[in-house]
Amino acid sequence: MSKRLGHLVTTIAFLVRHRQLASLWSRIRHKLHSETLSFGLRRDLTIPFTAPDANLPLTIRPLAERDIPVLLGTDAPSGTEEGAKDRTARRLLVQEQISTCYVAVTPDDQPCYMQWLIGSGENERIRTFFAGGFPQLAPDEALLEYAFTLEAYRGQRIMPCAMAQIAQKAADFGAQRVITFVIHNNIPSLKGCKRAGFVPHLLRHDRWRLFRRRLTFTRLPDGTPYPFDVEPQSHDSTAHPSPALAGEGTRRTEYASVPS
Ligand SMILES: CC(C)(COP(=O)(O)OP(=O)(O)OC[C@H]1O[C@@H](n2cnc3c(N)ncnc32)[C@H](O)[C@@H]1OP(=O)(O)O)[C@@H](O)C(=O)NCCC(=O)NCCS
Repeated sequence: MSKRLGHLVTTIAFLVRHRQLASLWSRIRHKLHSETLSFGLRRDLTIPFTAPDANLPLTIRPLAERDIPVLLGTDAPSGTEEGAKDRTARRLLVQEQISTCYVAVTPDDQPCYMQWLIGSGENERIRTFFAGGFPQLAPDEALLEYAFTLEAYRGQRIMPCAMAQIAQKAADFGAQRVITFVIHNNIPSLKGCKRAGFVPHLLRHDRWRLFRRRLTFTRLPDGTPYPFDVEPQSHDSTAHPSPALAGEGTRRTEYASVPS
């Protein structure tokens, strides 16, 4: 069985076992027919950057087994279908044991935020888990993914503070650049990335039709603003989430369809 097929079987088994049928159905619908635009954001670790403070003192440490029920427990009252889906996606990544998930904890060691910092040594596993959704990491690059703040702690600037510090840890394994991807209309996350020192670098157009994927990565000109820093335009904003994205100087790379 190929790695990709093995991963698919494990994912379906996990979702059925945990009675996450809504999540399973939404994944199937997504792969039958969807278009998603995301920003690829980048931070250059060679440029000094001071992590901003959160509204409460935080410490960063690797995820421990005891944190999982607190952050991702099915009993955790997220109250929304979105909250359940966010947790399921992260439980699947925990199960995959891709290194390294960090958490931000309060002074009494309560986890309130999690995010994965992944080095290029995990390229093959990233490719399998995310169905080829990210560019291959160069040896001096790292990927930050799946930011998540517990609902009760949101709006306290935990993401920018924690993300900036977790990104900096990539220097420990020799990375000089850290990249992350955020759906173009996830404004809380984009704001967190901006405050953590990340700048728009790529536009990813992700198209699924009948379980086949087509990815296009378009290089953005240096200085491309975040969408919330741009004056609203009168034209259809779904075609180009930021006017600068349609501008000259972009470079487009088409990737072959990736069956999943
Ligand atoms: C995105 C996310 C990690 C941000 O975490 P955070 O620690 O709340 O980040 P911040 O405190 O910096 O808040 C970011 C923005 O979200 C707003 N916000 C979103 N939900 C909020 C809530 N429930 N309460 C208060 N503020 C909220 C904040 O007001 C802030 O906007 P502002 O600067 O205009 O005030 C968090 O909303 C989350 O876990 N979302 C679900 C998962 C997700 O989307 N992950 C990112 C995938 S790329």
